[in-house]
Amino acid sequence: MTTIGFIGSGNIGGTLARLAVGAGHDVVLSNSRGPETLLDLVAELGPHARAATPAEAATAGDIIVVSIPVRAYRQVPAAPLRGRIVVDTLNYDPARQGHVPEIDAGDTPAPLLLQTHLPDARVVKAFSTVYFRHLPAPATTPSPAERSPS
Ligand SMILES: NC(=O)c1ccc[n+]([C@@H]2O[C@H](COP(=O)([O-])OP(=O)(O)OC[C@H]3O[C@@H](n4cnc5c(N)ncnc54)[C@H](OP(=O)(O)O)[C@@H]3O)[C@@H](O)[C@H]2O)c1
Repeated sequence: MTTIGFIGSGNIGGTLARLAVGAGHDVVLSNSRGPETLLDLVAELGPHARAATPAEAATAGDIIVVSIPVRAYRQVPAAPLRGRIVVDTLNYDPARQGHVPEIDAGDTPAPLLLQTHLPDARVVKAFSTVYFRHLPAPATTPSPAERSPS
């Protein structure tokens, strides 16, 4: 069994946590407002879920999913994520999430922002272009008629 830590437990983080618990994993959820604000989600997910601070979720997880607004990336705790596998779902959308000057200035490519902040973590980009409501759909192989033309 794997423990998955979540930094950010909203649309994407909460959906992935539901799927993880459904697949038999433990999850440790966190957000910016504190563990007490996640009690409803923890109650919904059951005994395989608990709430913690971002630093505690980072320490507890075998894998850590970061799913927060891009503008908040500097608040992701770097020290406990050294050497860890971090799943980066961030998708830069300044109109909805606010601007990040280093991206706008061209200093850091948006997809590399979290890896740049966490140079000692093993950052894997995933889920960043998938609408959260589509995540629970069962993975199936499309029929030839459903495939996009190449
Ligand atoms: N929604 C989608 O379908 C979708 C698809 C692909 C990629 N993404 C990307 O995934 C990321 C999350 O999107 P979302 O739709 O899940 O956002 P969301 O529903 O607004 O959830 C954001 C979560 O991040 C938490 N958070 C904010 N600042 C934080 C901080 N400094 N430390 C820890 N937690 C913090 C929020 O907690 P509080 O409420 O306590 O602040 C909340 O739990 C974004 O970068 C987005 O671009 C989203």
